[in-house]
Amino acid sequence: MLFQQKAPQNITLDPERIPTHIAIIMDGNGRWAKKRLLPRKAGHKAGADALERIIKDCQQLGVKHLTVYAFSTENWKRSQEEVDAIMDLLRQYLKNYFKKFLDDNIRMDVIGEIHRLDQDIQDSIREIEELSKTKDGLSVHIALNYGGRDEIRRAVCKIAKEIEDGNLTATSITEDVISMHLDTANVPDPELVIRTSGEERISNFLLWQIAYSEFCFMDTLWPDFDRACLEEAIYYYQNRERRFGGR
Ligand code: IPE
Ligand code: IPE
Ligand code: MG
Repeated sequence: MLFQQKAPQNITLDPERIPTHIAIIMDGNGRWAKKRLLPRKAGHKAGADALERIIKDCQQLGVKHLTVYAFSTENWKRSQEEVDAIMDLLRQYLKNYFKKFLDDNIRMDVIGEIHRLDQDIQDSIREIEELSKTKDGLSVHIALNYGGRDEIRRAVCKIAKEIEDGNLTATSITEDVISMHLDTANVPDPELVIRTSGEERISNFLLWQIAYSEFCFMDTLWPDFDRACLEEAIYYYQNRERRFGGR
């Protein structure tokens, strides 16, 4: 359900109940560009700038994990021109700008099947992950060539291999064992999932991890998403009753 009701003007967040993990489906870059008669590429650039701001806002609000959907396993279906533009932007960000976050104690890693990405991009990802692995501020997880079904498929392959090697038995596969074989092993499930641009679907994002997440679908196009939007989403989250199947 989209929010018909406006959040109160001066939102007061409960600092004790800021979600530990927020996941965002950053959607609407193309429509943002179209509204301005700009190429889609310009929308992706504006989207990357919005991400830079939101990372800082999450850090300031005390969020511990931020997972952002940057490129899905289905996004390869887009025109070669658009895929190239997104990859170039990514390349640029990985090489220059993400490193600036190291000074802010931010940790970065990538979830998804990165082997399909160009070698230089893979190298930059590994470098950033290595350089930031000791940081203990906000952890930013970037979903790249990520699909929830593909992640589960890869986890099943890893588990099958361990059984083949005699290191695991079928009856010892618990939910925790499955979680530990996902790309998000050791990351708590997101309490809050935000999707921008008015679409109300999951599009193959974190299928296993969102079992009990709260959802906030917002009309704002991703490049326009700002601190006020983030606080509004957290405000709605804080006003929900989470039951987990109990009463
Ligand atoms: C999200 O914006 C970014 C990616 C999927 C890479 P879109 O490019 O999907 O923007 P819309 O949905 O066309 O507006
Ligand atoms: C989801 O957005 C993927 C990302 C934001 C990276 P899409 O725009 O690709 O999703 P659909 O096609 O509208 O479901
Ligand atoms: Mg889209």
